[in-house]
Parts: sequence; structure tokens; C-alpha cells
Amino acid sequence: MRAETLGIIGGTGWLGGALAQALLDTGFVSAAQLFLSNRSGSHPLSATGAHLVGDNQALVDASDVVIVSVRPEQFNALKIDASGKLVISLMAGVTAQTISEATGARAVVRAMANAAVEIRQSFTPWHCALELPASEVDFIEHVLACVGTTSRVPTEDCIDYLSALSGTGPAFPALLMTALTHQAMAAGIPQDVAHQAARGVVVAAGQLLAKHDPQAMIDSLVAYKGVTAAALQSLLDAGFERQIGEAVQAGAEVARRGM
Ligand SMILES: NC(=O)c1ccc[n+]([C@@H]2O[C@H](COP(=O)([O-])OP(=O)(O)OC[C@H]3O[C@@H](n4cnc5c(N)ncnc54)[C@H](OP(=O)(O)O)[C@@H]3O)[C@@H](O)[C@H]2O)c1
Repeated sequence: MRAETLGIIGGTGWLGGALAQALLDTGFVSAAQLFLSNRSGSHPLSATGAHLVGDNQALVDASDVVIVSVRPEQFNALKIDASGKLVISLMAGVTAQTISEATGARAVVRAMANAAVEIRQSFTPWHCALELPASEVDFIEHVLACVGTTSRVPTEDCIDYLSALSGTGPAFPALLMTALTHQAMAAGIPQDVAHQAARGVVVAAGQLLAKHDPQAMIDSLVAYKGVTAAALQSLLDAGFERQIGEAVQAGAEVARRGM
């Protein structure tokens, strides 16, 4: 597929803006080919030369492919006719059927990015119920790869589930880091040291997982029967995996129910 023009509704928002900047920086589109819309008008992204418009229908009419990156609760207010077009939604909790009925799109893709778009390391799964030509699949994956990695998933429910997993971005590590910090302080470790220690675990040592298999790492640490093994075993005995499963399902339920 060769899309000459690409439009991002909500293209000056946190996610839409990061994607727009990445699309330009990687040379995937030129500024002349990129259309962005918002309600409030001026935005630093317009300095790139991308077209910033206030009329969403004008953006749709000018764009071969339309990306929707408004907040879920803002979607109802969009009144666009995207008949015949491919629409890629980045919204959590708005079904493809709702988007299809509201826009008349030829095909609706749901993609779920996360906050790591900011550093272009988002894992962004996507789903489309229709058979798509290989060129269109290639196009979608190239757009999403501008902000990290991507993978097509077989059902829309995978997107709702993954909204509460990869879509949460740094949320789980942040919770772990604050819990480690608070518990260290409660155990008498000075605050700055507690913070440094927790950061060392989550941000620094966590990077080792980029090149080590996590299960092999856990197995070898448990087999060592030392300090780390005792800490891990305590968590496992307390139902750590079950709790994580319940947490992700609780988030996924919200995504499935819609917002
Ligand atoms: N943030 C995350 O970590 C994350 C993770 C996964 C998925 N998402 C999804 O990403 C989507 C965008 O989230 P965000 O965090 O980027 O929100 P955001 O920063 O509030 O961006 C929303 C953008 O939409 C614009 N907008 C709102 N109503 C509009 C309308 N009627 N016409 C044109 N533009 C409109 C807003 O600009 P104006 O106010 O100027 O109109 C704003 O630029 C959400 O649907 C969310 O589910 C976010």
C-alpha cells in the first residue's frame, strides 16, 4: 500500500504527537503528507510543516489513512465520514464495531500503544478482523514500528487484554519500584538509599532482561537457595502470579466494557 497522506485526529496529544514526531523523524512521511487535528489550534508540531487543522472532516478528506488518537470519552463528539478509508484507532476501550459504525470506515484497525512511545520503545499490538492485503499490513506495521515494535494479534479481545498489560507501559514497574522503596524505608533504610536501591533493581538491573531469559534467570536464582531465592519464594508462595493475573484481568474488564 502506498498512502500518500496520513491524518492523525488528536495528533497534538501526548500519544498522537509522539507518533507524529516519530513518523516525521524516521522519514516515514514528509511534513507535507501529514495532517494533524485538535480543537485548540496552535501547537509546536505545526512548526514541522505538518498541516494542523481544526476540522476533522477536512483531515479525513485530505488523508488516505486516518489515525484516531483522541481519548475514548472524546470519540463520540467526532463526527467524521471516513467511508472507503482505513482507520487506525489508538483508543483503549472503543470497539472496532463502534468505530466502524460511527465513521463508515472500510477497515478498522485497533492498535494499543503505551507510554514508551516517548522513547520509541512501545510494544504496540494491533488487530483487524478483515483480511488485509499484504501491502496494507506492511503499511500498518511500519507506522507502528516508528514508535517501537508491533505484532498482529488474532482477536480484538487480545487488544482489550493487552490494554491492561503492555498498554499500561511503566505502571507495573512503577508500582514495584515504589513498593520496594516504601518497604525499604519501613525497614529503616534512609529514603535516598531506598530510592536508589529500588531504582537500581527496576530501571538498571531490569535492563538485563533485554538479553536474558527471565524464567531461566528465576530458575537459576531459586536453585542457588540464597537471599534472592528466599525473597522470590516468599512472593511465589503468596500467590504473586495469581495476583498479577487478577490485576490484568481487572484492567482488561474495563477495556472490554468500554469507557
Ligand atoms: N497515555 C497512554 O499511556 C496511553 C496508552 C495506551 C493508549 N492510549 C490511548 O491514546 C489515546 C490518546 O491518549 P493521550 O494520552 O494521547 O490523550 P491526550 O494527550 O489528551 O490527547 C488527546 C488529543 O485529542 C485532541 N482532541 C480531543 N478531542 C478532539 C476532537 N474532537 N477533535 C480533534 N482533536 C481532539 C486533544 O487536543 P485538544 O484538546 O486541543 O482538542 C489532544 O491533543 C487515548 O484514546 C488512550 O486510550 C494512551
